[in-house]
Amino acid sequence: MFNRPLAENPLYNDNKMKIGIIAMNCSHGSTISQVEGAWEMNWPDTREVAVMADRAGFEALLPVARWRGYGGPTNFNNRTFETYNWAAGVAAVTEYSCIFSTSHVPLTHPVAAAKQCATIDHISGGRFALNVVCGWFKNEFEMFGADWKEHDVRYEYATEWLNFVRRIWTEDGEFDFQGRWFDSKNVWSEPKPIQSPMPPVMNAGGSEAGQIFAATQADMNFVILKERDIEGGKSQIAHLKNMAKDAGRDVKSWIHVYVVCRDTEKEAQDYLNHYVNEKGDFEAVNNLLEIFGMQSETLPNEVLDEFRFHFIAGHGGYPLVGTPEQIVDEIGKLIEIGVDGMLISWVDYKTECKQWIDEILPLMEQAGQRAPVKKL
Ligand SMILES: Cc1cc2nc3c(=O)[nH]c(=O)nc-3n(C[C@H](O)[C@H](O)[C@H](O)COP(=O)(O)O)c2cc1C
Repeated sequence: MFNRPLAENPLYNDNKMKIGIIAMNCSHGSTISQVEGAWEMNWPDTREVAVMADRAGFEALLPVARWRGYGGPTNFNNRTFETYNWAAGVAAVTEYSCIFSTSHVPLTHPVAAAKQCATIDHISGGRFALNVVCGWFKNEFEMFGADWKEHDVRYEYATEWLNFVRRIWTEDGEFDFQGRWFDSKNVWSEPKPIQSPMPPVMNAGGSEAGQIFAATQADMNFVILKERDIEGGKSQIAHLKNMAKDAGRDVKSWIHVYVVCRDTEKEAQDYLNHYVNEKGDFEAVNNLLEIFGMQSETLPNEVLDEFRFHFIAGHGGYPLVGTPEQIVDEIGKLIEIGVDGMLISWVDYKTECKQWIDEILPLMEQAGQRAPVKKL
């Protein structure tokens, strides 16, 4: 079990479309709505969904790093489990899925982060991965009194941070580290992670600086698809993969999807309309969009309305809405675009994850998008 090759991590299996779950560690998950059945977020439900997904062969379970809510009647994402602890707990109750932690690089020192990651890699038996984020919500940085750096400098900081973490993961014996931000003597950490040479890293940078960071430093790029048609999506993903290739690297592309699956298309659309237009928390979503710098001063109203809709529906993710057959057809298009994996959010993770496993997974297998699940 020790020194497990990275290729054994399920992130590297042969399935054409890998699947995972995002934001289960946050109240309301990725849905900014007051609709009944929204995700309360507690440990028994988390464990139940994690185990269900793990047994069904989901490749990834990923928490969002969030330290405070966005206000409004839901105070969206105000209750969250801390991401390293969440990952350790989920790792202990699962057997197959890759378990991510998400780390705000300016809020965790590399020496602590490297050891936290190694610990979870051991608990999971070599199934850990790290999602590196630089921060986009100033108010939570103010809680730490942390330095809020100019946008592109955050990615320079993240590069040094990750280099330092990777040295700790891989170098035997003590070493000194001297960089622009870190000056550490006699650095030492044991045990090393189980995965060899080291655990995989994901990043969701969308800006030019973020894309360069993902292409040159990460193993997976978490992409927000700007164009939702095949040609637009294809060229965006190809651009990102080519950036990585030019740096001599192979970087996989993952996206976030929100899913509303019902027996008929009309039922799915009606439910989407209900939880977004009738029950949406418009105050929280406006706060969130303002934090992203998306306001009526910067964007035309129609564009803002569309953003608002997708953020309430699923944190700006790509919509998979309709019958199981329609959803599997749409996944076929995403494969054509070059998407390697998708992280899913639902309004109600418990019932809708079960529905995905019962009704959508078998169709994905029939369509050749995934191999049948090996019973664990
Ligand atoms: C699917 C997805 C998940 C993200 N998760 C987090 C997170 O957990 N915490 C966080 O502070 N930022 C998160 N981000 C924000 C990104 O790290 C990044 O800051 C954002 O996409 C903007 O890109 P930029 O930093 O290059 O401007 C996420 C973004 C996406 C698309």
